[in-house]
Amino acid sequence: MSYEEGLSSTITDWLFFNSWWLLLPFIMLLVVAAFIVAFVLLLYMISPLISPKPLKLNGAHVVVTGGSSGIGKSIAMECYRQGAFITLVARDESKLVQAKKEVEKCAINDKQVVLCISVDVSKDYGQVESVIKQCQEKLGPVDMLVNCAGTSFSGKFEEVEVERFRSLMEVNYLGSVYPTRAVIPTMKERRMGRIMFVSSQAGQIGLFGYTAYSPSKFALRGLAESLQMEMKPYNIYVTIAYPPDTDTPGLAEENRTKPLETRLISETSGVTQPEQVAKIVVKDAVVRDCILNNCHYHIYSALGQHKKLYQYIPSSQDHRENSSLEV
Ligand SMILES: NC(=O)c1ccc[n+]([C@@H]2O[C@H](COP(=O)([O-])OP(=O)(O)OC[C@H]3O[C@@H](n4cnc5c(N)ncnc54)[C@H](OP(=O)(O)O)[C@@H]3O)[C@@H](O)[C@H]2O)c1
Repeated sequence: MSYEEGLSSTITDWLFFNSWWLLLPFIMLLVVAAFIVAFVLLLYMISPLISPKPLKLNGAHVVVTGGSSGIGKSIAMECYRQGAFITLVARDESKLVQAKKEVEKCAINDKQVVLCISVDVSKDYGQVESVIKQCQEKLGPVDMLVNCAGTSFSGKFEEVEVERFRSLMEVNYLGSVYPTRAVIPTMKERRMGRIMFVSSQAGQIGLFGYTAYSPSKFALRGLAESLQMEMKPYNIYVTIAYPPDTDTPGLAEENRTKPLETRLISETSGVTQPEQVAKIVVKDAVVRDCILNNCHYHIYSALGQHKKLYQYIPSSQDHRENSSLEV
């Protein structure tokens, strides 16, 4: 190789080497852009986990167990007012038909439908599963399940028939497990859904006279918290409501057996209207953002009205603090 050829090749190499450095800013820009795209994609993929979109009730299918009376009926009416399609589930057919008429009065368009199905939610899982199948065939997949079927009873521990402990656990606990178990597979497939449990203030603290009722409502909290952890990756959100004494046929029935001590404790707080409870628990189930609130479930509890009630319960301090944060 001549001297000129050597010099020209050295210059070419030098230029080539330096031109790579000239490209470096573009390469870096490309890498940064790729990182941004990957980050946005990742955010998009996990967004349901960070901030669930509020469920649009307009056109949604909401199943309300215990929807023929009291709080459940008011929840059904509240959802219907927002455009939902409703399946009411309870045992007594005549009460269901009457409730259907009342819910229909809350329609906001002429496409809405109220379906009634009579079943005991606490006895046979197979029956509950077929009811859910039946209503999904008619009104489409369930977007929100409200587990409100339940019954209360108060009495002193030794005076409550042993059978009552079993039946309350069946209706209030298993009666919520079965419908939930039946709707979960479709919700998981669709990667969306809301499940509401209706507990009670007696599900937060044990009260005189509620040895049979309280444990059945405490159990719902364990179920709701555990279930939320399993369901979050599927964009299914679980809420649990802790209503105070509410003016319903159920409360009137319970008042017939209430021991004096339980009655005196109850009287320290007022009685809430079911429409008021329904508004809050439906909003909670539909709208609120779990992670921002740093909790896996949401609580409604009219603590303002019940401060006096807590004064009677020395061990209630922790509950009061927790609940106040979460309400
Ligand atoms: N009212 C209150 O002060 C209060 C306070 C806190 C929590 N809660 C809770 O809120 C829920 C509703 O109470 P509520 O006072 O509104 O009672 P409610 O007026 O007596 O209504 C209860 C509803 O549940 C249905 N139901 C009961 N057992 C059932 C079963 N085995 N299978 C299917 N449906 C069943 C009833 O219809 P059928 O009898 O025809 O089946 C009815 O539709 C209950 O879980 C209760 O524990 C109530």
